[in-house]
Amino acid sequence: MKLSAATLVAFAAGAIGAPADTIKKAGTPRQAPGACESPVELDASTNVWTQYTLHPNSFYRAEVEAAAAEMSGEAAEAALRVADIGTFLWADTIANIERIEPALEGVPCDHIFGLVVYDLPGRDCAAKASNGELAVGEIDRYKTEYIDVLAELITRYSNTAFALVIEPDSLPNLVTNIDQTNCQQAAAGYREGVAYAFKKLNLPNVVMYVDAGHGGWLGWNDNLRPGAEELADVYKAAGSPSQLRGFATNVAGWNQWDAEPGEFANDPDGQYNAAQNEQKYVTLFGAALATAGMPNHAIVDTGRSGNPGGRLEWGDWCNVVDAGFGPRPTSETGDSLTDAFVWVKPGGESDGTSDTSAVRYDSFCGLEDAFKPSPEAGQWNQAYFEMLIENANPPI
Ligand code: BGC
Repeated sequence: MKLSAATLVAFAAGAIGAPADTIKKAGTPRQAPGACESPVELDASTNVWTQYTLHPNSFYRAEVEAAAAEMSGEAAEAALRVADIGTFLWADTIANIERIEPALEGVPCDHIFGLVVYDLPGRDCAAKASNGELAVGEIDRYKTEYIDVLAELITRYSNTAFALVIEPDSLPNLVTNIDQTNCQQAAAGYREGVAYAFKKLNLPNVVMYVDAGHGGWLGWNDNLRPGAEELADVYKAAGSPSQLRGFATNVAGWNQWDAEPGEFANDPDGQYNAAQNEQKYVTLFGAALATAGMPNHAIVDTGRSGNPGGRLEWGDWCNVVDAGFGPRPTSETGDSLTDAFVWVKPGGESDGTSDTSAVRYDSFCGLEDAFKPSPEAGQWNQAYFEMLIENANPPI
């Protein structure tokens, strides 16, 4: 920050004659930079986001800074501002766990580090774009080489607060895509793996949210109850972990928070889904969770929800054209069940490749409303990132 001449004068005037401790306090931030000086204990029966800011992690910062270097003028300046917005880091392979530790350096005491746990055996069973490294049946590797390693790391960084999003799409797939062979084969491992993650990562410096898809997925009237029961069953199987706060919605999604009547409300089947925006979804799914006996507070990924209208169908999920960055992370949601808006999907990272010859090519990434060309899931897409900035609402 540059100090204006006026500020300098005021500062100097205040300093003269003030007792030493007053001078020090005047310039001191809410918390000194660097990790907290003692172990963090999060009370998951409360909304921790009122005390913590989602940390803008250095891994995403590096991606964004490299992207900004390819840009010029105001666009480049806007790009750099994205690096200061809190975003989750994805531990999407065993090897990529090594991305976490460098990013934990210097996390201020009033920040919370967002981490996505995402490596179940037979991952992404109803699609191809994000198929993972572990095959169905490799549950022991998931436990010992992935979850145990994360648990050890988080325990070692006990002075840092962590918010975890647990296994996007996994349990929702068991509710709506269990007619598919891949999901049938993956189901037992998903349930066992998520329960294991709940138990092992139930640490004092952690608050957990399990993925619950979005309004256009488990929000259908007929899906609410089975969806909530699926999640609650796993929660109970894990011994009702104290640090599980509820659910995450719209992860890597496109739905708007409070659009009226909602982007797809006037579709012929709109009458069968009362969760036409994410706020309604949180209310309805939250109520179903309470009935099913699971904590029911939510965080909502608003990262790419800024410019609706690109999707031809509600279920289209891959690199949607014309998308824009959306509302910034905040705990001021105006909704008692919604703890915070967060950015979970790092905007600019692809949802899946558009290369039809790739092993993980999914036809959704070839649809008319999918941005092309797009690289493999998780890889950087410069043109897409620039589009997200251009279409951002609020503007970046
Ligand atoms: C990909 C992951 C990636 C994540 C965040 C997912 O779709 O499968 O590899 O880390 O998106 O970009």
